[in-house]
Amino acid sequence: MNTSRKYIFGGNWKLQIPTVAESVKIAREIAEALGELETVDVFIAPSANALLEVGKAISGSKLKLAAQNMHYFEKGAFTGELSVLAIKEAGAEYVLIGHSERRRIFQETDEDLNKKVKLALEHGVKVIFCIGETARERENGQVKEINEKQLEIGLMGVEHKDLENIVIAYEPVWAINNEYLNPGIEIRPATVEEAQDTHDMIRNWLAAKFGDAGNTIRIQYGGSMKAANAEQLLAQENIDGGLIGGASLKAETFIAIFENFN
Ligand code: PGA
Repeated sequence: MNTSRKYIFGGNWKLQIPTVAESVKIAREIAEALGELETVDVFIAPSANALLEVGKAISGSKLKLAAQNMHYFEKGAFTGELSVLAIKEAGAEYVLIGHSERRRIFQETDEDLNKKVKLALEHGVKVIFCIGETARERENGQVKEINEKQLEIGLMGVEHKDLENIVIAYEPVWAINNEYLNPGIEIRPATVEEAQDTHDMIRNWLAAKFGDAGNTIRIQYGGSMKAANAEQLLAQENIDGGLIGGASLKAETFIAIFENFN
């Protein structure tokens, strides 16, 4: 159990709740269920079209808003992209950068993601920086190499003082409940040992690179997290919260993951 860092939980809705009306409804339910909870930080990342209205609906509550992605330029001729300015306008505090679906399905490179990280920080939007290896990479013994490379390039040029505005989300690709990311393999959550080993490795890398700041930055686990497996995962020293897909789509299943932190 980590005793020095505040736990942080995020609901990544992906494109699972595509309409504004439904997004607002579920966001309100989550905000209401959270009430005045102060012991953990909680955010939801609705689809881009719903960002503004969900932002309005949860404004003043303890539930915070995140965008799922952004472009690395503020504006310009970039068909289909979302600007950091729109994210701020919606009142979002966070943006997810480098989710495996963006890296692996939409081919975003480490260098693209580094530009996004820097632009978000320049604009005062906090970054949830996602990393993780595939099943094949794990089989090949590349867990350390892949995750460290994603950190090294993704956080290039980031200064010690920026670290308080960054959260790392370690999401092993093979644990993410997504058949497009994991064709033909059995998707399962990481075991406590697998998650803990990688989180410890990430913490060591951060501490070596950023000194003390590397010890205060939070590291979320993501990949098939739900109430049934969260307690054991969250009991580990370097697992400081969760990034949750499927189980965040309903207030009930989402809140159940961290209600013991009340
Ligand atoms: P999952 O998704 O909880 O549905 O596995 C997690 C994520 O991709 O952030």
